[in-house]
Amino acid sequence: MKPTVQGILAKVKHIQPLSQTLVRLLQLAGKEDHSMQEMTRIIACDNALTANVLKVVNSAAFAPREPITSLPMAVTRLGERLVVGIAVGSGASLHFSSALDGYDSRRGELWEHSLRTAIAAREFGRLAVSPMEVDQAYTGGLLHDLGKIILSDFLRQELAGQTDNLAEELRQHERHPDFLAVERRLLNTDHCEIGMALGREWRLPESLCAAMAWHHAPSKAPEEHRALVYCVHGGDFVAMLCGAGTGMDSLQYSMDKGFYAHFRLGPGAVERIMLTVQDEYKQTAGPMLGTAK
Ligand SMILES: [Fe+2]
Ligand SMILES: [Fe+2]
Repeated sequence: MKPTVQGILAKVKHIQPLSQTLVRLLQLAGKEDHSMQEMTRIIACDNALTANVLKVVNSAAFAPREPITSLPMAVTRLGERLVVGIAVGSGASLHFSSALDGYDSRRGELWEHSLRTAIAAREFGRLAVSPMEVDQAYTGGLLHDLGKIILSDFLRQELAGQTDNLAEELRQHERHPDFLAVERRLLNTDHCEIGMALGREWRLPESLCAAMAWHHAPSKAPEEHRALVYCVHGGDFVAMLCGAGTGMDSLQYSMDKGFYAHFRLGPGAVERIMLTVQDEYKQTAGPMLGTAK
């Protein structure tokens, strides 16, 4: 029997919640006025996260001259973006590490796609016409596709029951320029709508819910979050162009027609962003997932 949107939304209610520390950090990072001291106080209440932050700051990727043993020093050295990234990597690792079978995407691909999107979104943020909080663009990039973790199983079941050759076409990467339409045709909803519901369930700031909801249609995002959503939209494309998608939907989306008007992108800017993504991903992916030596 075809699943109902209510049935899919019911699964959102039963998903494992994010860690309390992560939610508090994301809510704090979403406020315009916040300090690194407040961030440090939240992290200090979580022994596992404190240990992870110290492990990362002392890892080969950051190579301090002297070992750093104080949390405030570690937080200052890493900066908000990386600290929140570490918290996302450890506080939602279960969600990021799952395979997305419905998308034909193996374990780890969602994290790689999300981290590359985050780095590129921050770079677009630096080149945005409207002033914006670039660390928020980074966090929006990390979380933007989490709706897929709910939709994946439903999608797998529906594609298995297809009598036409849609599943095969998608696996062969035949052009479906609007994968959201494929999701809606099969499930009457898409990973953006479900992502928004997930963001609300987790009580994430509205800016992050907007990134989850509108990253494939940034012009429809609420005006106050539109600049950020455009960064995530661009970051998503760059991640896919770098070869890091999430399976059969990679590059099966349309680019917003007005995208370039939101940025000051000189010649070669996108290529430079792609290079930054490659470098920074190599440096930070391991440490952020807690695999640093
Ligand atoms: Fe997406
Ligand atoms: Fe994406």
